[in-house]
Amino acid sequence: MAASARVTRNILCIGAGYVGGPTMAVIAARCPQYRVTVVDVNPVRIDAWNSDRLPIYEPGLLEIVKIARNRNLFFSTDIGRGIGEAEVIFVSVNTPTKTFGAGAGKAADLQYWEKTARDILRASRSDKIIVEKSTLPVRTARAMERILEANDKGIRFEVLSNPEFLAEGTAVDDLNNPDRVLIGSHETEAGIKARNVLVEIYANWVPVERILTSNVWSAELSKLASNAFLAQRISSINSISALCEKTEANVNEVARAIGMDRRIGNRFLRASVGFGGSCFKKDILNLVYLCEKYGLHEVALYWESVIAINDYQKRRFVKTMLRVMFNTIAGKKIALFGFAFKADTGDTRESPAIDVARELAEEQAHVVITDPQALRNAENDLASCRMQVTFTEDPYEAASGAHAIAVMTEWELYKTLDYQRIFDGMEKPAFLFDGRNILDHEKLHEIGFNVFPVGEAALKHF
Ligand code: NAD
Ligand code: UDX
Repeated sequence: MAASARVTRNILCIGAGYVGGPTMAVIAARCPQYRVTVVDVNPVRIDAWNSDRLPIYEPGLLEIVKIARNRNLFFSTDIGRGIGEAEVIFVSVNTPTKTFGAGAGKAADLQYWEKTARDILRASRSDKIIVEKSTLPVRTARAMERILEANDKGIRFEVLSNPEFLAEGTAVDDLNNPDRVLIGSHETEAGIKARNVLVEIYANWVPVERILTSNVWSAELSKLASNAFLAQRISSINSISALCEKTEANVNEVARAIGMDRRIGNRFLRASVGFGGSCFKKDILNLVYLCEKYGLHEVALYWESVIAINDYQKRRFVKTMLRVMFNTIAGKKIALFGFAFKADTGDTRESPAIDVARELAEEQAHVVITDPQALRNAENDLASCRMQVTFTEDPYEAASGAHAIAVMTEWELYKTLDYQRIFDGMEKPAFLFDGRNILDHEKLHEIGFNVFPVGEAALKHF
């Protein structure tokens, strides 16, 4: 550590994933006066964070990590030591949907989160501020407090909620320039004191008017509600896309028209094959579970319908492929352009491409997957239908001899390909299903493709 930068705080983050790694890298790069350590139970992940092949692909992340790594940013598997030394501990472990027991399929699985609470309790020798960074059900902070308060060492823990709003693919920008930072605390003297420590950390680079404070429960719920609202907009426009396909209305024109109403706004209105990602579905299910737990069945049903429409949209996409390709795709080669759940990430969690690939394989198509970042994850995701699927980084190779292409991810790369060359190498009639509406459909039609966008009339040659 440079002699000029005196360490004024020891910050720890437990969980070196998509949130913990980038968030701590930005804090360390922005605040050389803090010593920031990120720990994880997974040594492979930690080794990758300590190398130039980071465990996640995120534009601009390696540059940020390199600014601070081994200066005031450290990645380690020594969780006990990290806890012992830290004054502020961010908890950023995974909180997936529970797959077993009560609440299976909806409730959050809090086993990893609870284990960190017990690790903190065991390794602590001084007072600490614990910051919930993971997305958690409302009132989880109370459970954390109960575990931590069960100590006879005389140590005080103050639990804050500081949900993370970054989106993958733009994480570095989102962290450098957040719309807001939300900090929930108790309105007690100790709660406000802890809150001020966190405000002071963010105020190193975030304008103070964008740092919001609230009570703990509002902060926890705001995260679930924020993701639910974003996903709801996508399901709303996707529901309209189905109607557009029946009526010759064009969903892009409709989205533009409604988005120009400033009360609605124009973002998150891109019709697609469906939303993916590790957060939207999990967090809405968590919200649904909470509503059911509190007897709010109508509210639960309302939010559940956002997921129902998303599932419908993915099924509808495959149904269209099957219908227009003469009701059989058995033995046909179909190239999926993109497998990541969105562009600029290698993450495939809940990617709509997983469902589409599996359904196509079930229809006995031969599916070829291409993606610039996500092939390793794709191979794991499709292990159950390995016989029907192949992988290649080269989109031209993927499309060679194919009957159809389906665009699954909005990678810029796919806009710049030589589609004449691709068309020439395909079986005829050649089909193109644009699950992201990113290509020039008129031009593709002129080349000879039969083009099927989402929520727009198809451009066909028969
Ligand atoms: P992730 O799976 O990428 O990372 C979680 C990490 O925690 C893993 O590396 C895992 O090994 C580690 N871990 C689990 N238990 C541990 C333990 N007891 N001790 C130490 N390490 C442990 O998950 P993520 O995508 O970073 O998400 C983390 C949390 O942040 C989740 O609650 C998620 O909902 C929330 N979140 C995610 C995003 C996103 O874009 N991915 C955005 C906002 C919020
Ligand atoms: C989301 C939230 O945006 C972020 O605030 C939160 O912290 C984590 O969850 P993320 O899942 O990383 O972020 O990406 P996001 O940009 O929200 O996209 C989610 C999915 O919706 C992707 O599959 C994307 O392609 C899809 N999408 C997004 C659409 O289909 N249409 C749109 O208009 C926008």
